Amino acid sequence: MTASSCSTTLVLIPLVFFLFFYYLFPINKYDINNTRTTFFSSSSLPLVQLNITQASPPSNPINVFKDGNITFVNNAVSDPVDVLDNGFLSPSFNITTFNTNTNTNTTTTNTTNIIRERTSLDRIEEGLARARAAIQEAVRSRNYTSPKDEDFVPRGSIYRNPYAFHQSHIEMEKRFKIWTYKEGEPPLAHDGPLNNIYSTEGQFIDEMDSGKNRFEARHPDEAYAFFLPFSVVNVVRFIYKPVTNFSRERLQRVVKDYISVVSDKYPYWNRSNGADHFMVSCHDWAPGVSAAEPEFFKHLIRVLCNANTSEGFQPGRDVSLPEIYLPFGKLGPPHLNQDPLKRSILAFFAGGAHGHIRKVLLNHWKAKDNEVQVHEYLPKGQNYNKLMSESKYCLCPSGYEVASPRVVEAIYAGCVPVLISESYVLPFSDVLDWTQISVQIPLEKIPEIKNILKEIPTEKYLKLQKKVRRVQRHFVLNRPAQRFDVMHMVLHSVWLRRLNVRLSAL
Ligand SMILES: *[C@@H]1O[C@H](CO)[C@@H](O)[C@H](O)[C@H]1NC(C)=O
Ligand SMILES: *[C@@H]1O[C@H](CO)[C@@H](O)[C@H](O)[C@H]1NC(C)=O
Ligand SMILES: *[C@@H]1O[C@H](CO)[C@@H](O)[C@H](O)[C@H]1NC(C)=O
Ligand SMILES: *[C@@H]1O[C@H](CO)[C@@H](O)[C@H](O)[C@H]1NC(C)=O
Ligand SMILES: *[C@@H]1O[C@H](CO)[C@@H](O)[C@H](O)[C@H]1NC(C)=O
Ligand SMILES: *[C@@H]1O[C@H](CO)[C@@H](O)[C@H](O)[C@H]1NC(C)=O
Ligand SMILES: *[C@@H]1O[C@H](CO)[C@@H](O)[C@H](O)[C@H]1NC(C)=O
Ligand SMILES: *[C@@H]1O[C@H](CO)[C@@H](O)[C@H](O)[C@H]1NC(C)=O
Ligand SMILES: *[C@@H]1O[C@H](CO)[C@@H](O)[C@H](O)[C@H]1NC(C)=O
Repeated sequence: MTASSCSTTLVLIPLVFFLFFYYLFPINKYDINNTRTTFFSSSSLPLVQLNITQASPPSNPINVFKDGNITFVNNAVSDPVDVLDNGFLSPSFNITTFNTNTNTNTTTTNTTNIIRERTSLDRIEEGLARARAAIQEAVRSRNYTSPKDEDFVPRGSIYRNPYAFHQSHIEMEKRFKIWTYKEGEPPLAHDGPLNNIYSTEGQFIDEMDSGKNRFEARHPDEAYAFFLPFSVVNVVRFIYKPVTNFSRERLQRVVKDYISVVSDKYPYWNRSNGADHFMVSCHDWAPGVSAAEPEFFKHLIRVLCNANTSEGFQPGRDVSLPEIYLPFGKLGPPHLNQDPLKRSILAFFAGGAHGHIRKVLLNHWKAKDNEVQVHEYLPKGQNYNKLMSESKYCLCPSGYEVASPRVVEAIYAGCVPVLISESYVLPFSDVLDWTQISVQIPLEKIPEIKNILKEIPTEKYLKLQKKVRRVQRHFVLNRPAQRFDVMHMVLHSVWLRRLNVRLSAL
């Protein structure tokens, strides 16, 4: 035996032992139980009196990627999912390829580590491929087949394609698993507003952390998607004190720090360039998270109330989140299903002159007409939700951001929403056909609101109203979340985006 092969053997023996041990205890690859570390680097936030320490180094510093010599290649879509035909939006994602070097000359390229990594990903991708095929088959055969009795089956014209949605939902319930990163501390992560207009952000974070969500992954290796549980509302609330300016810089640094912690510690962000990761925020500023580095955030799924295409919202990649005003201690506005024929007010609006659309609306209609009731502030003693339930149509103009809690309030009140917005991608519009449940009026037709609404025949109005009531279940907030409610609809939107990305191990 030569000296050099002897020393090679000396190196190889412990390596083989290590790999064997690793094979037996793969779960400890990333110490997922020891993750409540403060995630900010001290340089980020000089002004803030939070308990900020250095991000802790990875507790188990095995770099799967370096050992496996994995490189990232973005290919054109070779096997596109034809979601347009299915009634879903057609995202033109480029598939992010996860490319491992299987050169067997070196031991390190064939570690159990990598094989395990590939098989867990392969299993996920196989599941997705089956789901796509099942959805396509349901669309082709226009057939509702289900392995079990269902308490609810989506049917009818409020859905762009009820067969696709039905099957996609079945597939989601069968397979979808989400890993919520444990890193970070409240109030900036694992916390958020549970009330008021930004409540869907905090409720979502809380639901995913509750241990009661049926889509929770037990281990990140089984996850189809990864949730980044920071709260933009809380970052703005705690980090912008004292407020010196509204520059989005600090927000951007917090988010980048968070991602750098989880992408240093785990392989998941890097292997997909973020394409299977998502964030959720209802704050007006949330689109600003990625504004400074569009390339870095190119694939991240952003679930936003402020779904403004003029601010970079991409319908194929991002998800529109409903804005719901939650009074303290309640899970939403009341359901007031007044008889449609007993509604005495043609159209109703009450709200501040936020943003340019409302200014136009108030200029034209404020206190001008008994049938089109437009108030800047509701007179004392008047009940907002009751007035909505006594109206046929409820005006929902955008305010400081494109979304408005009025859309959900109108739906709950059985009042047909009249949407007045620009560049707004409506929630669940990949599944719901909003033309069946709302009236959309362009900004320049605000002076004609009364004529437009009066010209809608009673019969058509009654149909619209009936469909608004049918769609209510998709906007109801439950804790824990329930089938087909608003939380599951949001998760289904994320599921659809994941269906359109393929991560492949070569
Ligand atoms: C910071 O640390 C102090 C003392 O350990 C603790 O009382 C306080 O609640 C912490 N603040 C936050 C925001 O965690
Ligand atoms: C990784 O792969 C690249 C190209 O495939 C090659 O040039 C490089 O030498 C490899 N590195 C290692 C450490 O194997
Ligand atoms: C996909 O890749 C092509 C070529 O690399 C590029 O021109 C196109 O913009 C990409 N599309 C998306 C949605 O990223
Ligand atoms: C693999 O090893 C063989 C000899 O064992 C050698 O001829 C070949 O060049 C090696 N390949 C690489 C990529 O190193
Ligand atoms: C390397 O891994 C592949 C599967 O990825 C396997 O077929 C092959 O036998 C392995 N080679 C060695 C030397 O273990
Ligand atoms: C729907 O699918 C089921 C099970 O595959 C089948 O038995 C049934 O005949 C189908 N119905 C229609 C209308 O195609
Ligand atoms: C905003 O304030 C921060 C901290 O006070 C400062 O570093 C930054 O340069 C300011 N940005 C702008 C655009 O004024
Ligand atoms: C992911 O990529 C970043 C930037 O290239 C790198 O710093 C980090 O170490 C990578 N993460 C892992 C787990 O390798
Ligand atoms: C949507 O974004 C554009 C571009 O930033 C902005 O001008 C517009 O006011 C936004 N719409 C709303 C309602 O905020």
